Amino acid sequence: MNQVTVVDHPLVQHKLTTCRMKETETWQFRGLVEDITTLLLYEACRQAQTEGVEINTPVAKAEGRVLKTDSPCFVAVLRAGLGMVPGGLRLFPSARAGHIGLYRDHETHAPVEYYCNLPRGIEACDCYLLEPMLATGGSAVRALDILKKANAGSITVLSLIAAPEGVKMITARHKDVQIFLGALDEKLNDKAYIIPGLGDAGDRIFGTV
Ligand code: URA
Repeated sequence: MNQVTVVDHPLVQHKLTTCRMKETETWQFRGLVEDITTLLLYEACRQAQTEGVEINTPVAKAEGRVLKTDSPCFVAVLRAGLGMVPGGLRLFPSARAGHIGLYRDHETHAPVEYYCNLPRGIEACDCYLLEPMLATGGSAVRALDILKKANAGSITVLSLIAAPEGVKMITARHKDVQIFLGALDEKLNDKAYIIPGLGDAGDRIFGTV
C-alpha cells in the first residue's frame, strides 16, 4: 500500500474547498474540520481487521463482523489538532485522546516539546496523529518520534492539507506510518504557510485571527 493517500472523495473536496475560502466563518470552519476528519478516518479504516461474531437480531440468529479493535487513540498536536478530535470521536466514541504540545525554537527553528500526555496502554492502540496542516513536517516528525518512544501501536497521520515538503520529510523519517490527506497542495511560502492552503488552521478553528 502506498504510504500517502489523498482522499479525493467529492465530499472531502467540497468541504475542504469551503474551509479554504476566507469568507468561511469560525463556526462553519470548526464543523467542516470535524466532518473532514471523520471522512479521512473512514478511508483510513478501510484496511481495519474484522472478526466474525454470532448475534441475535430481534427476529433471528445472524452472523456479523465487528472490528477487532474499536478503541483507538487520537493524538492531537496542539493546538490546531484539537479541532479534529470530535470528528474522530464521532466514529469511535470509546476512543481515548492524547495531546502533544510543540513550539518552534526561535534560533534553531526545531520543534521543542512543551507538553505530552498520552493515555496509558498506548502500546496496544491503533493511534491516529491529528495534525491539520503538514507544512514543513517538522512538528509531525517530532510528534511521531514521541509516539514511537512511547511504543504506540500502529500509527496513522490524518491531515487536511499537506505541502510536498512536509510529506517528503515524514516519508523519509517514518516509513512505517500511513498518511491520509484531504489535499496535497503546491508549495510552502517563505513563512512556511501552505500555498494555497487555508491560512492558520489554529486561528481559524479558535477564532483568534
Ligand atoms: N500551519 C497552518 O496552520 N497553516 C499553514 O499553512 C502552515 C502551517
